[in-house]
Amino acid sequence: MIVKREFGSVYGKPVYEYVLSNKNQMNVGILTYGATLRTLNVPGKDGRLTDVICGYDDIKSYVEGDGYQGAVVGRYANRIAKGRFTLDGEEYSLFINNGVNSLHGGEYGLNTKLFAVCENDKNNSIVMTAVLEDMEEGYPGRMMVEVTYTLTDDNALKINYRAKSDKKTIINLTNHSYFNLSGYASGSVLYHTLRLDADSYIPTDDTLIPTGEIKSVDGTPFDFRTEKRIGQDFYSEDNDLKIAGGYDHCLNFIGGETEEPVLRAELKDAKSGRVMKVYTDQPCVQLYTANFMNNSAYPFKGGFAQHTQNAVCLETQHMPDSINHDGFTNVVLDAGEEYNYTTVFAFELM
Ligand code: GAL
Repeated sequence: MIVKREFGSVYGKPVYEYVLSNKNQMNVGILTYGATLRTLNVPGKDGRLTDVICGYDDIKSYVEGDGYQGAVVGRYANRIAKGRFTLDGEEYSLFINNGVNSLHGGEYGLNTKLFAVCENDKNNSIVMTAVLEDMEEGYPGRMMVEVTYTLTDDNALKINYRAKSDKKTIINLTNHSYFNLSGYASGSVLYHTLRLDADSYIPTDDTLIPTGEIKSVDGTPFDFRTEKRIGQDFYSEDNDLKIAGGYDHCLNFIGGETEEPVLRAELKDAKSGRVMKVYTDQPCVQLYTANFMNNSAYPFKGGFAQHTQNAVCLETQHMPDSINHDGFTNVVLDAGEEYNYTTVFAFELM
């Protein structure tokens, strides 16, 4: 079932929230602003629904607050060094919005766009579209972006990302939800366990730009191939963790991208009994333990204060700053070529 309601306004236009619910009463709220996942109410072992993602009660916080809460980010999710890249001999410079670098599509990335929505009641899905103009934020190519959210009756939220550009460009799209399976207002996420199908990761410099190295997870805190508590190695003496103030790294899935979404990550919370399985066809995931989530000016839903490490992001994507490193994943999209990836967040009980 899909219910639409108004959620304030931006740019002098109304913002809407679409609430999709399934036969188990699981429901998700999605804003037309940034195609943002605002609420994700999932049953726990006590039979009760709890909202397992961070987010705000009002549109103003989404517009002014940082952290890209729940939003779809792009046209290039993650960082591009000094906002510069070269494509076919042409140099491009992007808006610098993160120290010396460009982050998540620049000043007015996809997370700030008002998406148009087409409802599909039969599939319990909404198709959301937005246009990024040629040279907007410095990127070449007028790009059509289409994000489809589907809520299934077996408690899975599926997100399909499609895009096409009229000129050769670069692209990296993801959803920036912050998860805590006990509920966003329940404290540290370091007690959750995580398994990740990743055998290497990307170390960064102190501006969080890849050094260029692709490092094996063997013997490092980045080895999640066997499930462990997120907190297990969080405070260990590791230079890469220190630089980032926690996990804020791209981990590379074994074998790279796949034809169809496959199971790549499992997040578990013994307290609530919730398990979140992540299926994707993307080659990597940015594991981010909300190390910057401490903006006291923008409390979360119900007035709950922000706090670092109270949630974790699993941002399925391509490698950061790929275009500036040999041997990184291909993020170039040709004119007229279709970009098409899917990530599924599937919920179960332990
Ligand atoms: C993440 C990124 C972090 C931080 C965050 C937004 O995707 O890896 O470094 O910038 O977005 O606060």
